[in-house]
Amino acid sequence: MEKINVIPLPNNITFSDGFFDGGDIKKEITAEQALGDEGYRLIIEKNKITIRAQTEAGIFYGEKTLEQLRKGGKIPCLTAEDKPRFAYRGFMVDSARHMQSLEELKKIIDAAALFKFNKFHWHLSDDQGFRIESEKFPLLNEKGSWRKGDNFGNLKSDKIYGGYYKKSEIKEIVSYCAERFIQVIPELDLPGHTTAIISAYPDLSCTKKEIPVQTKQGIFEDILCAGDERTLPFVFELLEEILPLFPGEIFHIGGDEAPKARWEACPKCKAKMQAENLKNSEELQGWFTAQVVDFLAANGKKATVWNESLAGGNLPSGVFVQRWMDRKHHSEGWASKGEKIINSDFYRYYCDYPFYMTPLKKTYNYSPIPKGISKSMEEFVIGIEAPIWTEYIDNFEKLCYMIFPRFAAVAERAWTKDCLCKLKSFENRFEAVLPMLKAMGIEPAPISDCNPNTLKRLCGTIGFFKDKIDLKTLTNSVGTQN
Ligand code: ACM
Ligand code: ZN
Repeated sequence: MEKINVIPLPNNITFSDGFFDGGDIKKEITAEQALGDEGYRLIIEKNKITIRAQTEAGIFYGEKTLEQLRKGGKIPCLTAEDKPRFAYRGFMVDSARHMQSLEELKKIIDAAALFKFNKFHWHLSDDQGFRIESEKFPLLNEKGSWRKGDNFGNLKSDKIYGGYYKKSEIKEIVSYCAERFIQVIPELDLPGHTTAIISAYPDLSCTKKEIPVQTKQGIFEDILCAGDERTLPFVFELLEEILPLFPGEIFHIGGDEAPKARWEACPKCKAKMQAENLKNSEELQGWFTAQVVDFLAANGKKATVWNESLAGGNLPSGVFVQRWMDRKHHSEGWASKGEKIINSDFYRYYCDYPFYMTPLKKTYNYSPIPKGISKSMEEFVIGIEAPIWTEYIDNFEKLCYMIFPRFAAVAERAWTKDCLCKLKSFENRFEAVLPMLKAMGIEPAPISDCNPNTLKRLCGTIGFFKDKIDLKTLTNSVGTQN
């Protein structure tokens, strides 16, 4: 393929002679089934440009390709017939550990749209803060949105930290995304990672003890009590309040890293297991999740969960599972039943690890289909997502350094077929689109930082473990890098 500086690289291009000299740009909605829901045909001739698609989203993606071609100088005459490999092309931002301003989020969303992402997974609730305005449960904001400082390994502060997004601000972000054909998928992480909720409403935990919003990273034993008769009504009422803010069909209910010690010692949780004929606490999580999934379904929503929710073996059919760290390969088993999964491989797609631990080439060269998925089951991998967790990321500059060029790499793997994805070409094209990101106010990591040599990787990794974090917490929470 002749060189064009576009990310993601279009899947089919035919070049013709000459360059565009100026003329009209026509956009036409046409019935061309081959283009699918998001595909487009971009025809660049010497004196005119035409973008055709079946949908407005397709027209938008044709425009994004054209925008990058125009920034590259002379536009070659060509026809691009292009559509995405995956229907789900996502990025996740953790606004619970550290928040981003609306302006910062909009910059990331602009860049995400440039690279044709279509899902923004917004992590809004965790042990270290609850970030959605609630009028029904005001203590979620009065108590649950504030913590007494930061104690995240290399990030330490005594200052009160916190805040939350007002409903009007959430709506502003949701409509900003909708204008760019990006669906916002909010995450309310349940039943674990709920210290902030419990700090506001201690009766929702097994011990009923008052606990503060966490200032440290990690996995915490106090989780929502699955057996208390107040817990599910609370979750449903909260969902009832916040669902109208998010018109997209998918809602993420977390389910990761929920330790079971409290449930196993709790009379109410034990009684619930008995009443529901559940063999163990993992099944209790499956049961609890199923209640929330049913509530969402009754409200026209599909649920997504992290892969730990499969451990009980009783997750209801139809739930999307986001695979991140799954040594027992439950997600692959889920897909092999014809259920849908999203791949967010921890070792390749997590953007919160330094480049000496997760170099760009590891992210880019990874096949988006997990190894255990057979050819005939590939269609059940509906897409991929790059998350950024922000325990260590308290400012926009750091955030941009960590997510770019990685987000662009994952976006390309989500759109472009494997055989066209070449790292060197991607890196060169990224350098070419860099001025567009800079114009948006985004400063990515220089490509020269992204693939450190073995010595730098080794020294960096040793330094990371030695100086920056609490080793015990890291190994408990995420295992070690391979
Ligand atoms: C996760 O990283 N705990 C989903
Ligand atoms: Zn309990």
